[in-house]
Amino acid sequence: MTSTSELLLPPSRIAPPMNAPALRWGILGPGWIAARFAEALRHHTSQKITAVASRNAQRGSAFAADWGIPTAHGNYDDLVARSDVDVVYIATPHTLHFEHAALALEAGKHVVVEKPLALDADQARAVAELARSKGLFAMEAMWSAFLPKFDVIDQILTQGMLGEISTVLADHGEHFDTDHRIYDPALAGGPLLDLGTYVVYFAQKALGRPTAVTAVGQQANSQLNGQISAILTSPTGGHAVLNTTILADTPNLAALCGSSGMLSTEGVFYRPGNFTVSLRDGRSARFVDDVSGYPEGLAYEAAEAARRITSGDLESPCHTMDHTISTLDTLDELRRLLGIEFPS
Ligand SMILES: NC(=O)c1ccc[n+]([C@@H]2O[C@H](COP(=O)([O-])OP(=O)(O)OC[C@H]3O[C@@H](n4cnc5c(N)ncnc54)[C@H](OP(=O)(O)O)[C@@H]3O)[C@@H](O)[C@H]2O)c1
Repeated sequence: MTSTSELLLPPSRIAPPMNAPALRWGILGPGWIAARFAEALRHHTSQKITAVASRNAQRGSAFAADWGIPTAHGNYDDLVARSDVDVVYIATPHTLHFEHAALALEAGKHVVVEKPLALDADQARAVAELARSKGLFAMEAMWSAFLPKFDVIDQILTQGMLGEISTVLADHGEHFDTDHRIYDPALAGGPLLDLGTYVVYFAQKALGRPTAVTAVGQQANSQLNGQISAILTSPTGGHAVLNTTILADTPNLAALCGSSGMLSTEGVFYRPGNFTVSLRDGRSARFVDDVSGYPEGLAYEAAEAARRITSGDLESPCHTMDHTISTLDTLDELRRLLGIEFPS
């Protein structure tokens, strides 16, 4: 089966982040990802960061100085009460996402919450209901979902270019030293929520909500799961074969395989990067990404939120609250199967 005719991939429909209307942002939790988000907003968007809040005034001031933010608060309540903040970006550990999303929504602020949006699907449903009841925007900062690369992947899937998808392969593994917060059971550590969110999100993009989930786990130590290998079965019988681990660096690749062809990523699947589509009729095409990784890639989620909030939308169609909840439903099931317990 050979063909020399060229395969054309759909172009991305995502507008440059710099063009999105400027909103006034507040940042809660000035940690690792918050620094990258602040850098992304500063260099790759027209968004303004009005204020940052830390539990500690000195940490807040240092972050504000690093990123040219006019005001720093030594507590989170004062930030959400500001009249010059339109939207709050929540970058605290996942155990606190629900509490901090509710804090901001109750204060009348739109929210963009780091992934996972909450510890479990019930908490995510409560955030979605609270946001809707107050007429406010809520979105999980699943940054992949807003990238041009994923818009092209969405169109490839919607157009049926790969045929019926029977197999999804995805792994997300990163070795962490034991002093990282991911080793802290009190912060819902382990790979499931930090890294597993990405592989489950990707699998469900292609296969939808699974009808069955199986998994095996490996402990990092007596307190903490360190690795999960899972198979999700789709309503049509397809399989997603997924791995996530904090015990080793892994290739972090992904592939979508169907009756007409295959899409395979060249680098870390959930970040900006290239991929190749190879069809069974011999045609192939390569998507070459012109977006770099961190921090530039984070500009797209901020721009999407700014556009939607300005339009009066309560969610992003690129990544709805139902998508977030359905990913968390599967993560809940993995947790149940493996007996992983989080702090109440
Ligand atoms: N999108 C991505 O690519 C990406 C990458 C990494 C992480 N994340 C997500 O972002 C969230 C934060 O991760 P991170 O790596 O940035 O964490 P981090 O560096 O530990 O930062 C978290 C911040 O939350 C604040 N905080 C509030 N209560 C806390 C508590 N009880 N314990 C620890 N910190 C507390 C801290 O700031 P103050 O104490 O100064 O207030 C801290 O700086 C996680 O949910 C993670 O899944 C996303």
